[in-house]
Amino acid sequence: MSLFLTITLISILTLFVWFFRTPRGTPLPNLSGPNPVLSFFQFAYNPIKLMTVGILEYTYKYPHIFPVSSVVGTEYILHDPKLVKEILLEKGQELVNHTPLTRSISHPEKIPTFYSLISIRDDEWKKRRKVMSPFFTLPKILPLVEIFRKQAEILCDILSKNEDGSILDIQYKFANLTADILGESVFGSQFNSQIDPSNSIAKAVASVVNGIGEYRLFLRIPYWYKFPFPKLQRFLTGTNQLMNLCRQMVQQHKEQGIPHNDLLQCLIDLNMDMETALIPESFLFLIAGHETTATLLSWAVYLIAQHPEVEKKILEEIIQVIGPNGEPTADNIPSLEYIDCVIQETLRLYPPAVVTDREVSVETVLDGHKFPKNCSFMVPIWAIHHNEKYWPNPEKFDPTRFDTEHKQNIQPFSWLPFGVGPRMCIGSKLSLVESKVVLAKLYQKFSFQLVAPTCTTAKAGGLLKPEQLLVKLRKI
Ligand code: HEM
Repeated sequence: MSLFLTITLISILTLFVWFFRTPRGTPLPNLSGPNPVLSFFQFAYNPIKLMTVGILEYTYKYPHIFPVSSVVGTEYILHDPKLVKEILLEKGQELVNHTPLTRSISHPEKIPTFYSLISIRDDEWKKRRKVMSPFFTLPKILPLVEIFRKQAEILCDILSKNEDGSILDIQYKFANLTADILGESVFGSQFNSQIDPSNSIAKAVASVVNGIGEYRLFLRIPYWYKFPFPKLQRFLTGTNQLMNLCRQMVQQHKEQGIPHNDLLQCLIDLNMDMETALIPESFLFLIAGHETTATLLSWAVYLIAQHPEVEKKILEEIIQVIGPNGEPTADNIPSLEYIDCVIQETLRLYPPAVVTDREVSVETVLDGHKFPKNCSFMVPIWAIHHNEKYWPNPEKFDPTRFDTEHKQNIQPFSWLPFGVGPRMCIGSKLSLVESKVVLAKLYQKFSFQLVAPTCTTAKAGGLLKPEQLLVKLRKI
């Protein structure tokens, strides 16, 4: 698209969106921050840049909390960990809702997540979260290690069939792996994405996640789904494909009549409605649950490949805890402490979700300022993780920051890749245990080198993920 067309389109959208800015007619606290028009255009033009390095630069200029203009109106950026704690944890039951991206969206029925855990509000959210949470506790997750191990073994078998020195797109392999893990552990279904390359669940999920991220502005225009943009259309096709898959899984569970030991069964047992709960929740878990973990694994491989000393320590730990031919199990994985540190440091440098937010649902006093109902707080996860006030030499990959000797130096609430408080990520433990098992299995047998040019930019869509991650495989 030419520059002229882009500018015209953004200007029209700006006027349109300006109308829906919130809150209207309410006095806002007098806080200094970047020029609202400038930050609005920065947001509209390159949201991922504003939400990462852009906000980081502003945090050095505007202390604790400052306003920016974005597509959902004025958002207050909380970048002081003490304020983050106050809002997400201490006031977490009061300020429980996310900023409704869908507040003024047209045709929300086209986006099934509208009716799911991530979007529902207040008591409805509390009720549903309460019934889902027990499924994601450690005692429920540890028995799933067998599934993580078995699926990681399938990936190792696939990799073993390649010649030493072969070049692979490892991000794609991880997307299929984590889709299969999610299918089996959460839905009790075999997706077989790893062994059947024509299976496109992972691709459909990627197009949906990217679509929601990139088309945030468009979703407010009436009949937005009719625009012939290829990515938008891929997003809609992906959405339909995943909704059909969810419907099929629910129907199969119901028809088989045998109780399954998975999350889907737990939702079915609660007699939830098909269209407003079962399909949306299944859809949400598909899109929130696998690409995030695949992204974490990709960034981990990317960082380890650039730090041979880290790779060496990982292998030493695997040999010591599991043995050269042993298996990760629920009993031995807690002892993989160094891999834990690698995962935590990867999530610090490359948090897949770069921000989270809360709607101010009741007038709130914070840091001596009064915030009226209906404005929004944004927590800049990436910017806090890269702030030199909390992380000395923040761009350095140093897993020892999280070891027993150093972790007491970490400022509380300055590491929050999964958010914080009652609304934090429900799948955090699942993702952490899964990643540990996968990395232990992989680095027991393989080493990966980066292939240039690779992975230089982060994608602007819903998640901060590598553009492409080509690696050269070495068998150990
Ligand atoms: C590296 C992996 C992951 C990252 C970085 C991540 C990150 C996040 C973040 C930042 C939030 C918002 C938290 C807040 O606002 O305080 C969130 C919410 C959520 N995540 Fe994750 N997530 C990951 C994996 C998963 C997995 C594996 C699942 C499911 C199996 C999952 C399901 C969800 C759900 C359902 C929510 C909404 C929770 C609610 O609103 O009650 N996520 N995630």
